[in-house]
Amino acid sequence: MSSGAFLKEKFLILAYDHGLEHGPKDFSAFSALPENILNLAKEGRFSAIVLTAGIALNFYSQTSFPPLILKLNGKTNFFKKDPLSLAFSSIELALKLKAKAVGYTLYPGSKYESLMFQEFGRIREKAHQNNLKVVAWIYPRGQAIKNDTHPEVVKYAARIGLELGADIIKIKYPSFKNFKELEKTFSEIRRLAPKIKIGLAGGKKIEDEKFLKLVALAIKSGLNGIVVGRNVWQRKNPLNFSKKLAQIIFKS
Ligand code: FBP
Repeated sequence: MSSGAFLKEKFLILAYDHGLEHGPKDFSAFSALPENILNLAKEGRFSAIVLTAGIALNFYSQTSFPPLILKLNGKTNFFKKDPLSLAFSSIELALKLKAKAVGYTLYPGSKYESLMFQEFGRIREKAHQNNLKVVAWIYPRGQAIKNDTHPEVVKYAARIGLELGADIIKIKYPSFKNFKELEKTFSEIRRLAPKIKIGLAGGKKIEDEKFLKLVALAIKSGLNGIVVGRNVWQRKNPLNFSKKLAQIIFKS
């Protein structure tokens, strides 16, 4: 693979594409402002930030902020049933913005999965030719998927990421009855998707201690980090919480 060095073995990535994916309901007065989130990324030891084209074009500068992962596709929350999400941004734009990677969401299980796989494959090849890494959000979804966080579904998602040639995958954390069971599932995910880097999405905000413990277990089980949004910037003190996450992930 020709992509240059980007992201160490462990990473803490800030995701901020929710204005498109979920709409303003996710935001507070603080998080609605892109400047605040970019400054948080800078001060909070984040390895990279995920932005859509409009936010990146208007607010991002490579010299002031952590490395950019330009999210190439995305859909709104209005979209129901079988999702289809195709790129509205390009490798050319990623290069212009001096991004280090591009991001793309895939919805395996949707009746449109092959269209997204096809487009993702073309993007991966072009990204690698241009020394960009490819981060794949693998979110099984659609009428065929009854429970997208069932451990078997999440394990399958991780393997799909390996099969499709992603450098880094982002998966949801699996549902679990207790932390022992969760640790076992994390280890199986690691075994099923060797070589590639695996990051967990944060999901809806949950209690501080529970989220920190979950991240610690993921790291202990060999996963590489998190690509997190709401579980950071929806907290009362996002910077403080980011520092706790950084300590767990980077062990310092
Ligand atoms: P969170 O950590 O807030 O869950 O963000 C991760 C993420 O993948 C975002 O990049 C994206 O906007 C959102 O979740 C999509 O979530 P969903 O498709 O489950 O609504």
